[in-house]
Amino acid sequence: VSQDTPTTDGRPRGSTAVELDSAYDYEKPFSENRKEGPRVELDPAPDEVFALDARRELLGFPVGYPIGVPASPLTASAVWIKALADQGFNVLTYKTVRDAPDGRPAFPPPNWIFVEELDEPLSPDSALAAIRVVGGSQTRPRDARAFSMANSFGIPSPPTAEWQSDVREALRFLRAGQVLIVSVAGNYEELRGQELVDDFVRVALHAETALGASPDRAAAIELNLSCPNTVSREGRGARPICENADDTYRIVNAVRGALAPATKLVIKLSFLERGRLAPVVEAVASHVDAIAGINTVQVSVKRPEGGPAFRGTLTDPDAERPAGLSGVAIRDLALDFVRSLAYLRRKREWDFDIIGIGGVMEPHDVRALMASGADAVQTATAAANNAQFPRVLWGDGHPEPTWEERLLQLVTAALEDPRWAFRTLEGLARDLRVGPDQVADLLHQHPEVARRSAMTDREGRALYTTPDRRISMRERLERARWILAH
Ligand SMILES: Cc1cc2nc3c(=O)[nH]c(=O)nc-3n(C[C@H](O)[C@H](O)[C@H](O)COP(=O)(O)O)c2cc1C
Repeated sequence: VSQDTPTTDGRPRGSTAVELDSAYDYEKPFSENRKEGPRVELDPAPDEVFALDARRELLGFPVGYPIGVPASPLTASAVWIKALADQGFNVLTYKTVRDAPDGRPAFPPPNWIFVEELDEPLSPDSALAAIRVVGGSQTRPRDARAFSMANSFGIPSPPTAEWQSDVREALRFLRAGQVLIVSVAGNYEELRGQELVDDFVRVALHAETALGASPDRAAAIELNLSCPNTVSREGRGARPICENADDTYRIVNAVRGALAPATKLVIKLSFLERGRLAPVVEAVASHVDAIAGINTVQVSVKRPEGGPAFRGTLTDPDAERPAGLSGVAIRDLALDFVRSLAYLRRKREWDFDIIGIGGVMEPHDVRALMASGADAVQTATAAANNAQFPRVLWGDGHPEPTWEERLLQLVTAALEDPRWAFRTLEGLARDLRVGPDQVADLLHQHPEVARRSAMTDREGRALYTTPDRRISMRERLERARWILAH
């Protein structure tokens, strides 16, 4: 494909690379990035980005606008968590850690690269195994809002005691309305069967301790059941655990049983089309508080000059490593996944939250996932290259109103309707298509939106009007009569 081939939407494709102010330093190893935090100086977001909407919840915790960053190198340490929390990312998932007394190193570099050409979403029906992915350390994107990346880190982890104290540190940096979830995984390279299940339980309990879970302090743990770029001891690419409903159930059931009842349990899945997703969700829906997804999509990446882009494992310097594809290429897979989850949740009346992840590059993508049923949205690839994303979202006039906010807007509109001076609860309920009790609750909780008149209608029902409507002579008389009568 030549560089000036138009994109399918007719936009001319830029032939030159764009400059990104990336927070992650792709030239440096993971360990250094983790220690040093973002490579760019970032002013904290302005106050309005943090505006707290006390009625919004995720996992039962109050949250601000539910935008966040999923488990990734951007959330691998307290320094990063602080930087992202200051930018207004409210739902932060600490990068997957393991139970490893001496820690686990990352795979040899490169670990994270841009890929060529994948600057449009792939169709969920495309044969993903067959897509050609080309990229190298020198590859740069041509469109700052539409690009894809591939990574292969191998889920490195600091020693258990070290990440536990770092998680405690990270908690100090959260503001009201921000949530920290800790992602964990068992050592699937070495362990199988019950041993792997036990390892998931162990690491989840270590995370629960680090988060200081107690009867009055709920913690949130995410099980990473979906990492696609794992390499078994023999060097072969392994499939994500979540593709197997039985394995998924065994792990989730054991972890749920071991954690304190108040601890929230999230599972992170990879893309599965609805037919394959349904049995997995069916197996665990009653045990989990949220389902997050999607993870990256497993691909093999070649360098532009030929040969594998990611080579060498901890035991075999020549092994070709599969990689995880992220960014705009996987956007429509994430949408499809969230729609399927929301459909299953509605159909079966389950009540887990949905954390939508994958290919979010622009405010529009956040709204699309929220409108498809997500209760929160996270972005890794966009956040890595534009850590000020929440500000962009805010500037775009984003926040999707909550259901209650929408009702309040409708009540206000109904009260301001010039056809009526006063409205009954029943009349408002009819307009809003909800029950009169719900309207009564809403007005009780938000006395600022309506003034209750001293008058009643002919049937003795309460009447409401806008708070700024002047008190009429009839109302005054009515009030005097009421005072005299009581
Ligand atoms: C460099 C990198 C490392 C990641 N590491 C993890 C991880 O440790 N655990 C996990 O559950 N997901 C991990 N992910 C997956 C992301 O959380 C996310 O699901 C995926 O990148 C898709 O979102 P995006 O398109 O916004 O990047 C990683 C992604 C990237 C790009």
